[in-house]
Amino acid sequence: MTDTYKAINWTKVDDVIDRAAWEKLTEQFWLDTQIPVDKDLDDWRTLDDTHRWVISHIFGGLNLLDTLQSQDGMAAIRQDAKTPHEIAVLNNIQFMESIHAKSYSTIFSTLNSPEETQAIFDWSDSENLLQTKAIRIRDLYHDDDAPLKKKIANVFLETFLFYSDFYTPLYYLGHNKLTHVGEMVKLILRDESVHGTYIGYKFQVAFNQLTDIERQSLKDWMYTFLYELYENEEQYSHLVYDQVGWTSDVLTFIRYNANKALMNLGQDPLFPDTADDVNTDVMAGISTSTANHDFFSQTGNGYLLGKLEPMLDSDYDI
Ligand SMILES: [Fe+2]
Ligand SMILES: [Fe+2]
Repeated sequence: MTDTYKAINWTKVDDVIDRAAWEKLTEQFWLDTQIPVDKDLDDWRTLDDTHRWVISHIFGGLNLLDTLQSQDGMAAIRQDAKTPHEIAVLNNIQFMESIHAKSYSTIFSTLNSPEETQAIFDWSDSENLLQTKAIRIRDLYHDDDAPLKKKIANVFLETFLFYSDFYTPLYYLGHNKLTHVGEMVKLILRDESVHGTYIGYKFQVAFNQLTDIERQSLKDWMYTFLYELYENEEQYSHLVYDQVGWTSDVLTFIRYNANKALMNLGQDPLFPDTADDVNTDVMAGISTSTANHDFFSQTGNGYLLGKLEPMLDSDYDI
């Protein structure tokens, strides 16, 4: 520890990706209070109890995972930040994770009674498969001897584990139902796609400095870990979705997103599934939020900024 303290200098940014991520994330800032979720109550009343159960509980799952990101995830990643600008970006991400978690409360309290809301919290705080994924990621966040495993865990959560739950609001959005809830989820998904890409990029910078043996060993660990998480997601999807008959489509969707997570980490896909295999209604729901999905494009060993599509007024047409 030196006896001076350095001020952050935004006129001298060492990593152009830090500035690009900062600008992108601040440009797409939003608040849950801007979206009138109560306009979905008419749609909600037309749903049967089984579908309501699915919708309510996947938001319980999302709330748990975004709470983990806001409380433990970004703090863990920040410990290994290489530049002051990276810390600034991570501060932004951490705050947005709190907005995301709060958004789910907005949805619960609008669609559900206080008693139903409490039952969802009781479920997400105890459900075994949901807790398994949260605890496995949390334990990696607190392993200070494994900085790159923290980043892998982070990207797996951001780009893979959210998606078994994201399936439902995207499905309804694709059917033009619960559109305000869907718009809120798309704003969250738009943030998560930048988060996963940014942390994935920071992972790759560090990964490329490892020896061949170290890289191979981390790769082996990464694929094993992803597959273990997938097996848990498989069971979780059966638990949540068998009752509405969506499990097979959800599994396709999460395999597709598992490949995206590996892509963010600069790795080859694990599963054969592509966007063409995903349920078309879900892809229709996701469509306007995919503009940022490939925020950075990889060229050779380095990175170039992808073409950023400007936000359209219709993105805020809620
Ligand atoms: Fe989030
Ligand atoms: Fe995130």
